[in-house]
Amino acid sequence: MDNIYREIILDHFKNPRNFGKMKNPDANAYENNPFCGDKIEIDVKIKNKEQRTKNRIIEDIKFRAEGCAISMASASMLTERVLGKNIKDIKKLNTEDILEMLGITLTPTRLKCALLPLEVLHKTLALVKSI
Ligand code: FES
Repeated sequence: MDNIYREIILDHFKNPRNFGKMKNPDANAYENNPFCGDKIEIDVKIKNKEQRTKNRIIEDIKFRAEGCAISMASASMLTERVLGKNIKDIKKLNTEDILEMLGITLTPTRLKCALLPLEVLHKTLALVKSI
């Protein structure tokens, strides 16, 4: 079973989805992994951004990264997962969700790689509050 997940991770690493830069994003943030210096940056476009409490969804998302296979794949899979979803629900995503998404066992060092995109996404969405 692990092999299927490894193939999926490799595919996302080689062909990252939603990779690139967005023109005029509604929010943008980046973060680096202090252990290796790799970094990820995320741009988002928010639908209904003027509504402060509900129905705000990610209508577009892009990421750029310099990172290992795990961080790149995690970012790619995460962007696919959250596209079109409500911000309120996305803010609830946690470590377990990322592990489930990747489907493989990770060492503590690799876990930091896997969680970097989620960290950046949370940081980006925290900025949406002030739009
Ligand atoms: Fe740098 Fe994984 S080794 S993010």
